[in-house]
Amino acid sequence: MAAVLAAIVFTLTMPRPAGAQDAGEDEAKVAKGQTTYAERCSHCHGFNMINSGAVVPDLRRFPDDKDRFFNTVKQGKNNRMPPWSDILNDDDIGAVWAYVSSQRKP
Ligand code: HEC
Repeated sequence: MAAVLAAIVFTLTMPRPAGAQDAGEDEAKVAKGQTTYAERCSHCHGFNMINSGAVVPDLRRFPDDKDRFFNTVKQGKNNRMPPWSDILNDDDIGAVWAYVSSQRKP
């Protein structure tokens, strides 16, 4: 236990270059977004965002447009994409956006 605590304190107090720290935060955000996606979105948009593209859009090809993403996720679209504003807050949606952005395809 003491060793674990010491390791945590060491990790937290270790000076890291700014870039490395940002990368760590980004990774945590992507991981959180991936979990939210799996719970809330994957049954329609597909496991790992892979679907036929015939009924629901392939989110890996969603344009790099964060505002549009937030608007759709909050309000839904065409009564087919459900609105999430009662369930997900901006942090949650931001994390899903980080996950979607990390999987983007040209
Ligand atoms: C009940 C099925 C369903 C669920 C659950 C669902 N979606 Fe959708 N989503 C759709 C459908 C259908 C569309 C296409 C809507 C249209 O263009 O008419 C869509 C479209 C979208 C779009 C594209 C909107 C645009 O502006 O073109 C985004 C982004 C999106 N969904 C994100 C999400 C996210 C993030 C989640 C989870 C929080 C989610 N969806 C959950 C069915 C779903």
